[in-house]
Amino acid sequence: MPCWERLPQKGPMMCETGVKQRKIGEVLRVKPLAALAMIDEGELDRKIVAILLNDPKASLVNDGESERLRENMALGVAALPFTFVAHLLAVAGIVMVLVWNIHFRGGLAWEATNKNLIFNIHPVLMLIGLIIIGGEAIISYKSLPLKKEVKKLIHLVLHAIALILGIIGIIAAFKNHNESGIANLYSLHSWLGIGVIVLYGTQWLYGFVTFYYPGGTSILRSQSLPWHVLFGLIVYVLAVGTASLGFLEKLTFLESSGLAKYGSEALLVNFTAIVTILYGAFVVLSAISQAPATAEDDYAPI
Ligand code: HEM
Ligand code: HEM
Repeated sequence: MPCWERLPQKGPMMCETGVKQRKIGEVLRVKPLAALAMIDEGELDRKIVAILLNDPKASLVNDGESERLRENMALGVAALPFTFVAHLLAVAGIVMVLVWNIHFRGGLAWEATNKNLIFNIHPVLMLIGLIIIGGEAIISYKSLPLKKEVKKLIHLVLHAIALILGIIGIIAAFKNHNESGIANLYSLHSWLGIGVIVLYGTQWLYGFVTFYYPGGTSILRSQSLPWHVLFGLIVYVLAVGTASLGFLEKLTFLESSGLAKYGSEALLVNFTAIVTILYGAFVVLSAISQAPATAEDDYAPI
């Protein structure tokens, strides 16, 4: 392992993990790995062990830069109470959307002569799939007492489930329109909806390729992470906004065909939308707050 130091001797000696002979004065970009304090002929001699940034193995080790970056981006409050409120709102949202579509709207069906039953799949899957499972995927990093590698797997699998359920939910809306002779993609809700699902799919693919398989270099991961978090939260907030527009649109259709404006169904739909928005707010608050302290051995590349 080549080591070098500044002459006259000032500060610690730098040791690089590679085997290549370096030229005098050559400047190398490295990632610090460890600091050693050694006794050499009765003198304390400090050595910093580092790996070249372009070494293929550099992406396998973590110098904590990305963790520091994430901590700096976070609010100075603990995320756990926010994740707890989010879980409660998730349960409330699931119950409310099911009661609405099963009790008030007559249930769900993929094939039916009553085409409204096909439509009912849409709000159920968009809310439980994209919004709630997607939200749980985001807060899994903050709410689960597991190792980072496991949380990463849970994060990507839950997002994949959210994406698949979202796609099926949108297909159900198209199926209902096509079988009922209604035009497709005429509303602001539907345009934003297509945007959300395309952006969500893109975010998932980029996240998978960069952070999981085959995985980008260490520099690419560190540089991508703040963008991944920011873009992920923007897409998520857009999804919550789109779902709220959907509730408004459906209730407006129902009210113009005679549904009582202050009746129990109208109140249920409006409150489901409010619970959806509050859930989205608590997911974002959880994501920008401090994760619980990690275990000593919880050391893995991002
Ligand atoms: C983020 C979640 C959502 C997304 C991405 C989304 C997306 C879409 C898309 C792409 C369409 C167009 C289907 C077509 O043109 O054939 C649509 C239709 C519709 N959606 Fe949603 N939706 C979401 C949530 C909801 C929710 C929670 C409701 C509540 C009932 C809802 C109500 C409607 C209604 C009434 C239509 C038919 C009218 C129209 O095309 O605008 N949506 N949705
Ligand atoms: C549409 C899909 C996705 C969205 C919306 C999304 C969104 C987010 C958000 C908001 C965070 C911040 C979470 C927090 O700190 O509480 C995050 C973190 C992260 N995501 Fe994703 N993500 C998606 C897919 C993926 C995929 C497929 C991977 C592949 C492994 C991935 C890897 C990561 C990693 C490594 C972090 C960093 C966690 C940390 O150490 O702070 N994401 N994601």
